[in-house]
Amino acid sequence: MNSISSPVITETSTFAIDVEEGLSKYPKQLSSKYFYDAAGDQLFQDIMAMPEYYLTNCEYDIFTQQKAAILEAFGEAPFELIELGAGDGTKTKILLDYFLQQEADFTYRPIDISGNVLTQLTAACAEQFPKLKVDPVKGDYTEALAQIKQEDNHRRKVVLFLGGNIGNFPLPNAKVFIKELAICLSAGDLLLTGFDLKKDPKIVQLAYDDPAGITAAFNLNLLTRINKELGGAFDVDKFMHWETYNPLSGEARSYIVSKEEQLVQIEQLQLSVHFEAWEAIAVEVSAKYSERDIIELAEETGFTVNQNFVDPKAYFMDSLWELKV
Ligand SMILES: C[S@@+](CC[C@H](N)C(=O)[O-])C[C@H]1O[C@@H](n2cnc3c(N)ncnc32)[C@H](O)[C@@H]1O
Repeated sequence: MNSISSPVITETSTFAIDVEEGLSKYPKQLSSKYFYDAAGDQLFQDIMAMPEYYLTNCEYDIFTQQKAAILEAFGEAPFELIELGAGDGTKTKILLDYFLQQEADFTYRPIDISGNVLTQLTAACAEQFPKLKVDPVKGDYTEALAQIKQEDNHRRKVVLFLGGNIGNFPLPNAKVFIKELAICLSAGDLLLTGFDLKKDPKIVQLAYDDPAGITAAFNLNLLTRINKELGGAFDVDKFMHWETYNPLSGEARSYIVSKEEQLVQIEQLQLSVHFEAWEAIAVEVSAKYSERDIIELAEETGFTVNQNFVDPKAYFMDSLWELKV
């Protein structure tokens, strides 16, 4: 199996610093990138299998039905296929399989902050696609991209940013992030990003607040992770998941809400966190886009839109951009 390279900053120390900062400020905040420990990875796979979480099936349909057009749009020259936040690569494997069948010349470089999911993905690729060249990088997007930029081998880059990943940035932050990404790329490099499109708010709301409570378990697992990794004393039953969707901003937002006033110790941080009754921690943004938002984002970050790939229900769009000179 390929070895996983990893930037120098340790994950635990960054997690500790961010938890301390996020729970010490008001309003409280924790980043959704910390959802993904081994339990979180499994819960996210359960979310992808839920009927309410339409995003996975929509992008699956796009890739299954339009993979030939996608490869054609990528062009024939050899490329590095870099995937930001690859997860278990369920949908990406449709493209990898097809690209290999077509004898496209590429190396697959999945990036993920979760070492667990990256190890699983690398092992699955080795088994399923023995001929595929896989070069995984474990780390936060920005650190991992800086590493790729540093070792630049002048190969053309095609970056995948699939599923709901870009949605985890509020729109102004998405702009900043894509500009940072563009610095790691060269003119003519490509970016294929998944955008969840604005739609009936009821459909969006249900995707993040399913009746079976899988999303609630996924979000609350963040408290369990703090208990395990930082010696936290959260009683998860004293907190609840809350979801809102604002059709004007296009932002679905997830919160963890304290059901009572309480004081929670986090031993390794030597921190006591006070919660008022019904005080919330903001944990995730899942932004939805209109086609107009997508075009504006491309233009404001130095890209041109080459082609859009949309599912039959028009719920989701994979938009292919090229970095301008
Ligand atoms: C919602 S899952 C989506 C996975 C995949 N892109 C898909 O569409 O199925 C998000 C993945 O991105 C990773 N991730 C989230 N924030 C990240 C960050 N800042 N840097 C690197 N990986 C991140 C998570 O570990 C997780 O595997």
